Amino acid sequence: MIRVESLVKKYGPKTAVDGISFHVDDGEIYGLLGPNGSGKSTTMKILAGILRPTSGKVVVNGIDAARNPLEVKKIVGYVPETPVLYESLTPSELFNFVGSIRGIPKETLEERVKRLVKAFGIEEYLEQFIGTLSFGTQQKVSIITALLHEPAVLVLDESMNGLDPKSARILRELLLEFKREGKSIVFSTHVLQLAEMVCDKIGLIYRGKLIAEGTIEELKERAHEENLEDVFLKLTESKDEVFAIVQALRETL
Ligand SMILES: Nc1ncnc2c1ncn2[C@@H]1O[C@H](COP(=O)(O)OP(=O)(O)OP(=O)(O)O)[C@@H](O)[C@H]1O
Ligand SMILES: [Mg+2]
Repeated sequence: MIRVESLVKKYGPKTAVDGISFHVDDGEIYGLLGPNGSGKSTTMKILAGILRPTSGKVVVNGIDAARNPLEVKKIVGYVPETPVLYESLTPSELFNFVGSIRGIPKETLEERVKRLVKAFGIEEYLEQFIGTLSFGTQQKVSIITALLHEPAVLVLDESMNGLDPKSARILRELLLEFKREGKSIVFSTHVLQLAEMVCDKIGLIYRGKLIAEGTIEELKERAHEENLEDVFLKLTESKDEVFAIVQALRETL
């Protein structure tokens, strides 16, 4: 269970997150959608305990993320927007390193690594330097790293990016399995069809504010639109703009 209350994050004079509140129940996948620069990643970093809020509160399974970032990190699995990995380690070395920091018993770690490495099909890269791996393979390493301690809460920032269709499908199925197990999942994406497929609830962020929230059906009804893309464009005030830009492009081509 995640509770976000009146969250504000300022970077100097810039307000990136401007009073956002929402909650994610156990067994729920909450989709954070919003245009570039709207504050999704900032919100997710605070949820993961790696960034302190300017004000407001984030409580993850009863733990205050700002007061106890270390405790929160124990129960959260966070996959950042771009993999942040040690380039001169191999995936095997990284998994062992993370396993020891997390205090995972050796045999348990070996069993989890084996299962996840097989699921994402990266056996052949285990002994290569991470810096030499393709973006998608690094993304898979980053996802596996976040899952090793079997976190109760998952925060996934555009984690399907770069994954091939098979791996994306596997991650999707894993998320649905985690949901059945009762984990709370926050998931950001720009791929609206993906959000429709996996999210129970959507929070639409625009200029640091949560401007709409609900199930996909509720959002469609409220915006009087038939698909999520039109809901997104309408609520972020982009629909007329997109039309005008496309029209202008047509005239100049
Ligand atoms: N470290 C930082 N220092 C200063 N400003 C920042 C920093 N990180 C983010 N910002 C600013 O905060 C705002 C929100 O950024 P954020 O990365 O949270 O957006 P986002 O919704 O994740 O965007 P995207 O869809 O492009 O990933 C942006 O205006 C961004 O420029
Ligand atoms: Mg982002």
